[in-house]
Amino acid sequence: MIIRGLTKTYNGRCVVELPSMELNDGRIYAIVGTNGSGKSTMVKLLAGIEKPDTGRKPLDLNIGYMPQQSYAFRMNVLKNIMLNGDDAERAMVLSEKMGLTALLGKSAKTLSGGELARMALCRLLMKDYDVLFLDEPTAAMDIEATAKSEALIKDYQEKTGCTVFIVSHSLQQAKRMSDEVIFLSEGRLAERCPTNRLDAPETDEFRRFLEFYGS
Ligand SMILES: Nc1ncnc2c1ncn2[C@@H]1O[C@H](COP(=O)(O)OP(=O)(O)OP(=O)(O)O)[C@@H](O)[C@H]1O
Ligand SMILES: [Mg+2]
Repeated sequence: MIIRGLTKTYNGRCVVELPSMELNDGRIYAIVGTNGSGKSTMVKLLAGIEKPDTGRKPLDLNIGYMPQQSYAFRMNVLKNIMLNGDDAERAMVLSEKMGLTALLGKSAKTLSGGELARMALCRLLMKDYDVLFLDEPTAAMDIEATAKSEALIKDYQEKTGCTVFIVSHSLQQAKRMSDEVIFLSEGRLAERCPTNRLDAPETDEFRRFLEFYGS
């Protein structure tokens, strides 16, 4: 997959400036960087949620997107999940895998933050996509739900062969999940590094980031 270069400017300030990138289909990419480095904006641009300055859509593929803030519609959890597909058996399997079975009849607006994220992930995975963009999908989840989510995402990737982008503040998660890490700094792509080479980053900037966040 080739992603066309793109920029995004808000109020005269360029917050994302990415070069064209050649990526391997069917891989899992982790996107890391400090608060405000442009991760969510990058993902929104690639997912087609936000328009880049140039106005061109960077990817013409079937794209699934999980925003950083999960959303519940005013209906029960099962109906929320099935908004994205009518395969009831798939909904039950996903709910079971995410530990949501007991919550399916509950009003989704009353879910806790972690429960809401679990529901949002199930809803997204009701469909098969070519590319998945997941913006900090497990940030609100406990350790068990995080492990379940990671297993579910990997399983989904293996079954569909899709390409996955997962934004994370956890380098441990990046190591568990990804084939390659994309490091953003002040809206720039500062380094791309195969996950098995994280012990030998190329730039001082990424080395400092890894030292600070890595343990
Ligand atoms: N709609 C907007 N209007 C103005 N500025 C914005 C808008 N969206 C994002 N920004 C700015 O763009 C920069 C990048 O934001 P972005 O949300 O992409 O960061 P992030 O890397 O996802 O951070 P975090 O780790 O906190 O989620 C920030 O400085 C932010 O304030
Ligand atoms: Mg973000």
